[in-house]
Amino acid sequence: MEKFDFETIPNRRNTDSDRWDVKPGELPMTIADMDFKTAPAIIKAMKKKIELGAFGYEFPKDDYFNAVKDWYQIEHNTDLKTDWMIFTTGVVPAISSIVRRISHIGDNVLIQAPVYNIFYNSILNNGRHVLSSDLVYDGQSYHVDWQDLEEKLARPLTTLMIFCNPHNPTGMVWTKEEVQRLADLCLKYHVVLLSDEIHGDLVRDGYHYVPAFSVEGAARDQIISLVSPSKSFNVAALHAATVVVPNENLRNMVSRGLNSDEIAEPNLLAIPATIAAYKYGQEWLHALIKQLEGNFTYVEKFIKRNISDLKVVSGPATYLIWIDVSKITDDSGTLVKYLHEKTGLIVTQGEVYGGNGRKFIRINLASPMSMIKDGMNRLAEGINSFKK
Ligand SMILES: Cc1ncc(COP(=O)(O)O)c(C=O)c1O
Repeated sequence: MEKFDFETIPNRRNTDSDRWDVKPGELPMTIADMDFKTAPAIIKAMKKKIELGAFGYEFPKDDYFNAVKDWYQIEHNTDLKTDWMIFTTGVVPAISSIVRRISHIGDNVLIQAPVYNIFYNSILNNGRHVLSSDLVYDGQSYHVDWQDLEEKLARPLTTLMIFCNPHNPTGMVWTKEEVQRLADLCLKYHVVLLSDEIHGDLVRDGYHYVPAFSVEGAARDQIISLVSPSKSFNVAALHAATVVVPNENLRNMVSRGLNSDEIAEPNLLAIPATIAAYKYGQEWLHALIKQLEGNFTYVEKFIKRNISDLKVVSGPATYLIWIDVSKITDDSGTLVKYLHEKTGLIVTQGEVYGGNGRKFIRINLASPMSMIKDGMNRLAEGINSFKK
């Protein structure tokens, strides 16, 4: 018997789960959390804290920051100083706060569409402009148009770039050379590089994500990285993340922003659960990655064999699969609605990510194999009848 259970689907129907707030018979493969119980060590640490029964104010101390540092050393082979870190209540709250602190109303915030849809909210809701250097799709995968990116970084109103590293929804893992090149360009044009690394731990075997704070030279002074156990360990509702800012001045600015936005204080479980994840969660995470590898292989083969009009375009990161549906429609929103009504399968339409997303759908594969198989059968049935 396997040591960890990746076969049982926790029943989240009629709980407060966002994803599972669906009708009977519907199958949600959408919002980015997982249908696996988190690592036993995390549950144990949470239970211990609950047993204590007194939940007064807290702030993170050395044990928290050392756990983050050691995780990055052991898991990612990267040196990181505890002085560079600030606790925050989530990656998205930090992004919005940093947009407000580091850029000004009317500035351009650069992104690479198609990209995580909430980046648009953080930018637009704060009165900044979205400027995208769209990733270029060649029919197989995506790449950066460096000339276009440089031209947009050079515009005087571009002051901040939000980088998705690794990239949601395409699953791309950026190489060391790419991350360094991007950081050097940001330095050249005085643009702060805000790197969202929430998917950094979820990279399949043989690939490595490169934290932006690990770049060499003066470019590091322009970097803010956001890291979190949220995706890796299925603890999104923990609301815990760490901001990493090597440069002291920039760090002080970010810290003032996080504090005035009141998003720098942990809830009762944030500290023990994060420490448990980073100190004792490695074996579970590696078993999870193996499970995800199996899920991706199954889905890729299934689609090739049974729905050959679709094309999987995903890179080796995240548990989200990015599928080109342009052979059957150039409006994936209509397809997604049809799949939902016809088969109960709920997937995400690519348009919300901008760029060429209208020709794509995104499916969350972080579920036991029984659910993946159910989802694929519904997908095949829905696509076949949509084509008719
Ligand atoms: C790239 C990216 N950043 C941030 C988040 C959410 O972060 P948090 O829940 O810590 O606010 C997600 C969730 O899907 C994501 O994909």
